[in-house]
Amino acid sequence: MDPVDMGSDLERVLLTEEQLGARLDEMAAQIDADYVGKELLVVGVLKGAVMVMADLVRRLHSSVQMDWMAVSSYGSGTKSSGVVRILKDLDADLTGRHVLIVEDIIDSGLTLSWLLANLRSRGPETVEIATMLRKPDAAKVAVDVKYVGFEIPNEFVVGYGLDFDEKYRNLPFVGTLAPHVYGA
Ligand code: IMP
Ligand code: MG
Repeated sequence: MDPVDMGSDLERVLLTEEQLGARLDEMAAQIDADYVGKELLVVGVLKGAVMVMADLVRRLHSSVQMDWMAVSSYGSGTKSSGVVRILKDLDADLTGRHVLIVEDIIDSGLTLSWLLANLRSRGPETVEIATMLRKPDAAKVAVDVKYVGFEIPNEFVVGYGLDFDEKYRNLPFVGTLAPHVYGA
């Protein structure tokens, strides 16, 4: 899909495919450098992280293992509560592993802080986080995120894995929605 395919549903493009790709090049180089001589297990959080995961791991120079987790955060509407349920757990045993969690976006950070505690309890050697996007509210929760693609304004965004009502995940860019789409 390109911006024209969205018609009047698109308010504006926040990050182009080129900008996302260039930043992923930098993030991958940093991850390569940080894990020299180590075996990495990359954990993608479904469904939003699918695009970041695919584009990030293909830029790495070492062979990594990939695993997936699906969680759902109870909450009202677009706000998460921090109460999380595992919908699909990892296949891999984390004992002694170097784990890198890959996320699409950190908003409140509540989902991620729960996930971090959960994975840390499984005996990994290290756990770090990479996220493509981070919103300002995330600063309120003390989650140490090692790799951040872009800090974005506190707006609802779609594309590059992120959805509104399960739509727009397949946009190759990140954009904001026109108010008429979400009923404003
Ligand atoms: P948190 O617990 O508030 O950090 O929730 C993060 C999750 O909420 C993300 O993994 C997304 O699934 C969803 N989310 C947060 N902000 C947005 C957004 O702007 N667009 C689409 N989904 C979002
Ligand atoms: Mg997510």
